[in-house]
Amino acid sequence: MKKILMLAPLALCAGAALAADLDAKVAEMMKTSFKANGIASLDRQVQDEIQKACSSPNDPDAATMKRLEEAQLATIQWPADGNYTGGDWKEGAKIAISGRGLTWTDASPDNNGGGCYNCHAMDPAEVSAGTIGPSLVGYAKLRGSSEEVVKYTWGKLWNAKAYNACSNMPRNGYGKILTEAQIRHVMAYLFDPASPVNK
Ligand code: HEC
Repeated sequence: MKKILMLAPLALCAGAALAADLDAKVAEMMKTSFKANGIASLDRQVQDEIQKACSSPNDPDAATMKRLEEAQLATIQWPADGNYTGGDWKEGAKIAISGRGLTWTDASPDNNGGGCYNCHAMDPAEVSAGTIGPSLVGYAKLRGSSEEVVKYTWGKLWNAKAYNACSNMPRNGYGKILTEAQIRHVMAYLFDPASPVNK
């Protein structure tokens, strides 16, 4: 019995070494299996600090989350002219429903979609909506259009991780998925009283 107990830590060490070895092998395979093509460059495989922290089995501790969120908050580009919601909600609707873009055949910046419906309900008449994110039906009707709500929403669209470090929501502005003008159209889709989101 004693012998087995003494051997157990050794077995654990060997297991950890094996796992590290496997991780390195998988990373190498990933690197060599993909080819850079057009805008799809290999740096997409490199995790930034926040992706790394949020890919570990446990979420980072509260202090780390706060530090990561503050760094993300500093990346948000606010509209220089203060125009947050003056886009065209009809354009915003197209962007919200489109899931295309970011492939190697796309030029950049291109007409990327926001893919919002993959995760959110928005227009109640649209039956195909995901549930990973909360429903955004009636967004401005429920929350109002105060400066605070409008600014928070812009920031959330630009860089969702500024408000929740391990958010599943893509960082649209920061990640160059959507342009400032596209984000303004999506903002109009969320805030314009004429938008079906608020009907
Ligand atoms: C891959 C899933 C995913 C996609 C795609 C996505 N979101 Fe989100 N979104 C989330 C999740 C999850 C949350 C909940 C809070 C969090 O963890 O960030 C959220 C939160 C939000 C919020 C804040 C809601 C609140 O009550 O505070 C807004 C606004 C929002 N999303 C809008 C959008 C828009 C607009 C798009 C498209 C441009 C979009 N999201 C695309 C997953 C997603």
